[in-house]
Amino acid sequence: MKVLVTGGAGYIGSHTVKELLKKGHEIIIFDNFSSGRKELVCGGEVIHGDLRSKEEIKAAFENHKIEAVLHFAALIQVGESYTNPQKYYLHNLITSLNLLETMLKFGIKYFIFSSSAAVYGIPQRIPLEEDHPLNPINPYGTTKFMVERILQDYDRAYGLKYVSLRYFNAAGADPDGQIGEMHDPETHLIPSILLHLLGKKDNFQVFGNDFPTPDGTAIRDYIHVTDLARAHVLALERLTAENQSQAINLGSSRGYSVLEVVKAVEKVTGKKVNLKFGPRRQGDVPVLLASSQKAESWLGWQREFSELEEIIETAWKWHQKH
Ligand SMILES: NC(=O)c1ccc[n+]([C@@H]2O[C@H](COP(=O)([O-])OP(=O)(O)OC[C@H]3O[C@@H](n4cnc5c(N)ncnc54)[C@H](O)[C@@H]3O)[C@@H](O)[C@H]2O)c1
Repeated sequence: MKVLVTGGAGYIGSHTVKELLKKGHEIIIFDNFSSGRKELVCGGEVIHGDLRSKEEIKAAFENHKIEAVLHFAALIQVGESYTNPQKYYLHNLITSLNLLETMLKFGIKYFIFSSSAAVYGIPQRIPLEEDHPLNPINPYGTTKFMVERILQDYDRAYGLKYVSLRYFNAAGADPDGQIGEMHDPETHLIPSILLHLLGKKDNFQVFGNDFPTPDGTAIRDYIHVTDLARAHVLALERLTAENQSQAINLGSSRGYSVLEVVKAVEKVTGKKVNLKFGPRRQGDVPVLLASSQKAESWLGWQREFSELEEIIETAWKWHQKH
């Protein structure tokens, strides 16, 4: 298929482009390179455009016979979304509306959306299943929730078919070492520890050791970015075959505390982490853990990288080179 990938020069978008290309799809990357990198573009045609501009989106659709859209482009810092919510509603919500409006105009009806575990808010039960109530507790999660709701309405009213993929914590790097995670600032756990070990930071700060968990640190569900990318390829294939909209978790059903991740990093790298404990961050919940049953049954998704050490190994290989 001819697929438009917004944010295809970013971390998860670039890994997905790589997997889509392997399956023979034709790729148009649409990215404003605000956090995307040229080094992460691993093929396809690149349009330097901004989703805040309807004109730029329209031009992309006019110039290519696009059949489906994968929408990764967004701002991703939960903390910043508290202090500057307007920026998040403009960049994540309005941009998505612009994109959907143009898709409808051009009669394109397949959409894969990068949603997030942040749509659930404070879990009432663990693991999180897709029918768990959605009650986001930060503006970033609210933008994802709002887009999901808009998609439901657009399906009912206009027949737009979508898959909302609710990612848990994406981590690791392309096993070939070609692409990897390059966020700036880096707020994600595994790369933050690795950057510390590479001498970029004196210590590694743990946000909160008074959570109601066995070791007091927050538990999260880590999923290898290549497994995540492959789930997008499956979602696209399944969506176009079944013509049925879905919301699906992408996680591993297994949780690790921050201290367990630190231990695993020390094991993989053979280096000692200089830990510093700080207060909890606003909006951090004790445990986030996905049920991945629906991804397995509906998508037929099987993870290749099931061990945390494997995820860390690929990330460590990448970070040492870049
Ligand atoms: N990284 C995670 O663990 C995680 C977890 C849950 C959900 N997500 C979602 O996955 C998606 C991708 O995340 P990522 O970690 O790859 O982020 P990223 O910052 O690496 O990639 C985002 C890409 O979007 C582009 N972009 C941003 N605003 C744009 C705009 N207005 N117009 C055009 N391009 C724009 C950036 O330049 C970048 O290439 C995001 O929607 C994010 O919310 C990520």
